[in-house]
Amino acid sequence: MMSATHHDDLSFDEFDEQVNPRPEETDFDRVVDAAVSRRGLLGGALAFGSMAMLAGPLAATARAASDRFAFTQIAANGLDDITVPQGYTAQVMVRWGDPLWSDVPAFDGPTRGTAATQARAFGDNTDGMEVYAFDGRTLLAVNNEYTNRKILWGNRPEGKAASDDDIAKGMMAHGVTVMEITSKNGAWSVVQDSPYNRRITPDTEMMLTGPAAGHDLVKTAADPSGTKSLGTFNNCGAGRTPWGTYLTCEENFNGYFSAAQEGFAPSPELKRYGISAKDWGYGWAKIDERFDVSKHPNEPNRAGYVVEIDPRDPKSMPKKRTALGRFKHENVACVVAGDGRVVVYMGDDERGEFIYRFVSKDVYAPGLPTDSLLEDGTLYVAKFNEDGSGMWIPLTPETTKMGSQAEVCVYSRQAGSAVGATTMDRPEWITTNPNAAEVYCSLTNNKNRGIKPNAGGDETPVGGPNPRKDNRYGQIVRWRPAGGDHAADAFAWDLFVLAGNPTVHGDDRAGSKNVNKDNMFNSPDGLKFDSNGVLWIQTDGNYSNAKDFAGQGNNQMLAGDPATGEIRRFLVGPKECEITGLSWSPDRRTMFVGIQHPGERGDSHWPDGGDSVPRSAIIAVRRNDGGLVG
Ligand code: FEO
Ligand code: CA
Ligand code: CA
Ligand code: CA
Repeated sequence: MMSATHHDDLSFDEFDEQVNPRPEETDFDRVVDAAVSRRGLLGGALAFGSMAMLAGPLAATARAASDRFAFTQIAANGLDDITVPQGYTAQVMVRWGDPLWSDVPAFDGPTRGTAATQARAFGDNTDGMEVYAFDGRTLLAVNNEYTNRKILWGNRPEGKAASDDDIAKGMMAHGVTVMEITSKNGAWSVVQDSPYNRRITPDTEMMLTGPAAGHDLVKTAADPSGTKSLGTFNNCGAGRTPWGTYLTCEENFNGYFSAAQEGFAPSPELKRYGISAKDWGYGWAKIDERFDVSKHPNEPNRAGYVVEIDPRDPKSMPKKRTALGRFKHENVACVVAGDGRVVVYMGDDERGEFIYRFVSKDVYAPGLPTDSLLEDGTLYVAKFNEDGSGMWIPLTPETTKMGSQAEVCVYSRQAGSAVGATTMDRPEWITTNPNAAEVYCSLTNNKNRGIKPNAGGDETPVGGPNPRKDNRYGQIVRWRPAGGDHAADAFAWDLFVLAGNPTVHGDDRAGSKNVNKDNMFNSPDGLKFDSNGVLWIQTDGNYSNAKDFAGQGNNQMLAGDPATGEIRRFLVGPKECEITGLSWSPDRRTMFVGIQHPGERGDSHWPDGGDSVPRSAIIAVRRNDGGLVG
């Protein structure tokens, strides 16, 4: 048995790998390095391949790089601090445990508070976020992905929960926080007691909507109707709709379920999603039986969705949108196609899983009802071809041979496997270029590429947009829909960047030509275009600063130019953090950046210094001259 202490020394992925080991190595070890050289993917400013004629005019992306980056690149470092370029200032706006209401005590470092205080304070591990201007106020909706148990329970022996309240405190640190924020003389803070402040937790009642709602697969003893589920957890990236709602994405939901029953063997359906008899150390089944899969095998079928939340109405019930499929949702990029239909791009962040798209049946127009837009439509999965072309394959009972659309929406991974979707190197964030019909997706890394199949047994051959075996650095793929129409089924793809380390390697691990000793990084994750068309890249990678990663320092944020491929480092985070979550104030003079899990392995006291408990936090970054930052 693995101790919780050992467990906390492992990354999320490493632990998942131990609990849910993939099938043993198979013999399809095909190294297709031709995919890199033939298509010129190492060429820096990357031309699209033979299918480029499918894409629409790209004149709007042809602006000069010098217009794009109004800052001087900073060097990598390993400091326990935030570093930004000269002429910029970073200010901590809100930290894990900061109260949203004035009757809640301030965060107490020695105890880390209680379940009751945590339920009314900013949650832990800030992630995807969106800012909304509403009613003369500025509202921020933000995910609180998970907790670092060694920190949360660092006041307990061996960092393990010592009471039910300890477990409940962890639970209440998850979910979503909606809060009003304000700036005075350029300094941002939370507006305590705002009527818009809200915590959405794993206990908040939600409505299941779309094809899976009411289906037998989502019925439980507590909800025989299969239409009401409790809460949301492991909310990773996010997105926003044109109608002003927040989309929060349930990612590693499997890590919260366990089985008390002796000898429990998970079904193949549970296994595909990584659910096993052991949870990842959160202990939720000890205080809430619904997390015991041996008693409630359908409960995991009610997690793994995109949830729509209206931040403008604190009493509104969040809606789980099953039409958008069930998998380890990273984030969503929501755009309106030329004909008014809503198109949602989504990645499933696990080694060898897929990229998806949803296209609404109805059209969006201001004033028209919006409630059906994410309920009724077609779910697709991406197939990338070697020649630079690609196709969206619809996931329906006909194409998948599954029994109903409800089954497709609950077992979306199996649906993708059934139609031969392309296994990807862990799709993280997806974002769309505001100046062109272009979509970018981080493929963060995949040590199993060319070595092991995915959890469903699909091969993960080297090639196409996943060109490196044992991929430790990651890459960013982009595609352009045929005719510039996001609702079109064909697209052309290419790689924007292959991350790497040119100071250590001389082969394809050096990265593409737009990577050099001064801007190198690994494991692109957060990805978001600003309104000027600058592509911001946030990393969640190896921060050892040694060996393969020598010279890359702590996790960081960089800016990329989609036209030239130029990449420049803008920000470096404190020790052992990842940078994730990005949004802008309505006047675009402040950039909000998420700093997640500083000190996850015990070596940070950011942001408060001294011997304080490290706390994830959102920082506000401004130009000292008050200029635009996005
Ligand atoms: Fe929560 Fe895939 O990052
Ligand atoms: Ca992520
Ligand atoms: Ca990641
Ligand atoms: Ca994370």
